[in-house]
Amino acid sequence: MKILVTGGCGFIGSHFIRIIFEHRPDWEVINLDALTYAGNLANTLDIQTHPRYRFVYGSITDKKLVDQLVSEVDAVMNFAAETHVDRSIVDNEPFILTNILGVQRLVDASVKYGKRFHHVSTDEVFGHLGPNDPKFNERTPYEPRNPYSATKAASDHIVRAAMYTHSLQGTISNCTNNYGSHLYPEKLLSIGITNILEGMPIMIHGDGSQIRDWIHAKDHALGILAVLEKGRIGETYMMGGDSEYSIVETSRKLLSAMGMRENMLTFISDRPGQDRRYAIDYSKIRDELGWEPTLTFDQGLEEMVNWYRNNIQWWKPIRESSGYRRWFKSQFGDFI
Ligand SMILES: NC(=O)c1ccc[n+]([C@@H]2O[C@H](COP(=O)([O-])OP(=O)(O)OC[C@H]3O[C@@H](n4cnc5c(N)ncnc54)[C@H](O)[C@@H]3O)[C@@H](O)[C@H]2O)c1
Repeated sequence: MKILVTGGCGFIGSHFIRIIFEHRPDWEVINLDALTYAGNLANTLDIQTHPRYRFVYGSITDKKLVDQLVSEVDAVMNFAAETHVDRSIVDNEPFILTNILGVQRLVDASVKYGKRFHHVSTDEVFGHLGPNDPKFNERTPYEPRNPYSATKAASDHIVRAAMYTHSLQGTISNCTNNYGSHLYPEKLLSIGITNILEGMPIMIHGDGSQIRDWIHAKDHALGILAVLEKGRIGETYMMGGDSEYSIVETSRKLLSAMGMRENMLTFISDRPGQDRRYAIDYSKIRDELGWEPTLTFDQGLEEMVNWYRNNIQWWKPIRESSGYRRWFKSQFGDFI
């Protein structure tokens, strides 16, 4: 089997490639990545010399390149995306280009060459839940509430429409919040860990009562592999982590995993369009494909903290050179 992974230098894409070489050592992987601020060759350092791995620098919006690469493989796994909600609120253009136009390009090429296509998406396309609402499932109506989730919703619709109109051999997965090693230091847990390691507090938007369901990226990657191999064409599969915690509870767990006291939490103004609660009913993928998360949040968090402690050379240059601090300060003021 030869697969094209897009966005494989990002957080989840790089976990997926590692899972492939661990579980399907005879597969070949082409990784197409535009190396945006979130893409990092260091995320694939351990696989760069693998004989069945090839990296191609380029964008999923490049029609000619996408056409050529899709023609070479058996399946296309789309992880490439602009993914940070706060950034989408400030500048939506890269989100429109990659998450919508880029996905259309991949779908068009997959239809043209009759290739298997899997689209990685998010539960944020479903909006948010009240405290007692039933969890999202495959029949939940779409209701995106920020520019990021609006573009991801559009991409899901593009894929689903092509499955009906052009018989695209496609599947979609919608997953809840991922955590684990190689998470770019701009999301709650990776900012939290790196802030603490640099003596800064964890930032909490609003009152921190928003609830997230955490899943380790390795478990997500294993679920995507299950969908690729055993999923029914035309279907959507939802993945969750069985780990619903409020942002404050999550941050307290993180502080405790790092041996810190609670005074390392700082509350800042809430961002616009903040969703209250995400939670996923993953019974379909469990019953049909036998997938369920393997790591508890406590186990995964400990592993993640240890990874950031032992890989300062990975995150320190990102914090220093990415403009993250300047960008964050421009949005949220003098937070240090
Ligand atoms: N992180 C989460 O919690 C989460 C949860 C559910 C779903 N998802 C979805 O999983 C996928 C991967 O998310 P992630 O957190 O790994 O993202 P990420 O931001 O860490 O990585 C995205 C990768 O895509 C690449 N990329 C961006 N634009 C590109 C383009 N035009 N062409 C080629 N490559 C491009 C980047 O360079 C980067 O390597 C996304 O589709 C996201 O919507 C993420």
